[in-house]
Amino acid sequence: MDLYEYQARDLFESHGVPVLGGAVATTPDEAEKAAAKIGGRVVVKAQVKVGGRGKAGGVKLAEDAADARVKAEAILGMDIKGHTVHQVMIAEAAPIEAEYYLAILLDRANRNFLVMASVAGGMEIEEVAHTSPEKLARVGIDPNKGISAATAQEIVAKGQFPADIAPQVEAVLLKLWDAFVAEDATLMEINPLVKTQDGKVVALDGKVTLDDNAGFRHPTHEDLVDHAAANPLEALAKEKGLNYVKLEGEVGIIGNGAGLVMSTLDVVAYAGEKYGVKPANFLDIGGGASSEVMANGLSIILGDPDVRSVFVNVFGGITACDAVANGIVAALAILGDKATKPIVVRLDGNNVLEGRRILNEAAHPLVTQLDTMDGAAARAAELAAK
Ligand SMILES: Nc1ncnc2c1ncn2[C@@H]1O[C@H](COP(=O)(O)OP(=O)(O)O)[C@@H](O)[C@H]1O
Ligand SMILES: [Mg+2]
Repeated sequence: MDLYEYQARDLFESHGVPVLGGAVATTPDEAEKAAAKIGGRVVVKAQVKVGGRGKAGGVKLAEDAADARVKAEAILGMDIKGHTVHQVMIAEAAPIEAEYYLAILLDRANRNFLVMASVAGGMEIEEVAHTSPEKLARVGIDPNKGISAATAQEIVAKGQFPADIAPQVEAVLLKLWDAFVAEDATLMEINPLVKTQDGKVVALDGKVTLDDNAGFRHPTHEDLVDHAAANPLEALAKEKGLNYVKLEGEVGIIGNGAGLVMSTLDVVAYAGEKYGVKPANFLDIGGGASSEVMANGLSIILGDPDVRSVFVNVFGGITACDAVANGIVAALAILGDKATKPIVVRLDGNNVLEGRRILNEAAHPLVTQLDTMDGAAARAAELAAK
């Protein structure tokens, strides 16, 4: 899960990473009040989960509270790279002397963490990384060792930070590492980390990605989820405990087991080329799917307005094909008139003959059975194209 900047700011603050005061606002009125509370010059910042807000005009300096209102009016509702701004953060304005870059991220390829540090931070960091990579220090961090004071010193030296602020940058890096570990993050980036005119080092912008697989260890992370921005079908699926990802096509997919569903997506994508159709989703109903789970899955997929046909691809294992077939029949009974789209079913594996017999006997008008995965994918694609 990616966080908004204001959430990253709060998280940094709670772990002792130096930040400036900030508050989030959803209306110009709230923005004015928040600015008045902070006092003096403030910065009004669009809260969208995409970089380059500054360049897009989503970060504006305001002289006072009244001006903050005007700036918030301009930024709220703005579109930044396809993201509509619904919230702004009002932050204390820093008298910036220099902008640096500091980040810790998971380096999957090297089974390691990676620290990146540079004195050439700010809005051009991507450019710097491309054109003068020597200005970006990169140091691998062994997860079993972490970042010690000595490592921090080494990184800051490699990043060529000026001597007067080096100890502060080292301290920030150590706190950031603590935060990174404590929160199970996969990315914590500060850009810019600034030196102010009075010689202080503070984080002005934070980008944080938390590892959803560690969510069970962090009950408070749930509060950081932006439910309003989530895809409504995905939100509904999550509520029902289903592994569902919305995609862009027209053929709804249900399968049991993530591997089978992944290959079903491939086969449908291939079969769909001829008709210009694609898989509409990923949905794994798991090994021991009851008829209720099947009904939940079917109802989510049938509720997707983009879906024109459904492909149920099940390989019977512990849950045998007869149980799955009964599940489909029961699910269609539960859904009644709500089931309106053609459903292609391919059953194989444990107790397949009984499963197929059950579906044949039920003879539901929407259901077509095919014996092979390729055949069923082709039929589902053809039906979606009609
Ligand atoms: N609190 C602040 N005070 C002063 N200047 C700021 C503040 N926050 C951001 N800026 C300036 O705006 C630039 C862009 O802001 P930033 O938060 O990094 O957004 P983005 O990375 O999305 O462009 C920063 O590089 C910095 O120069
Ligand atoms: Mg930034």
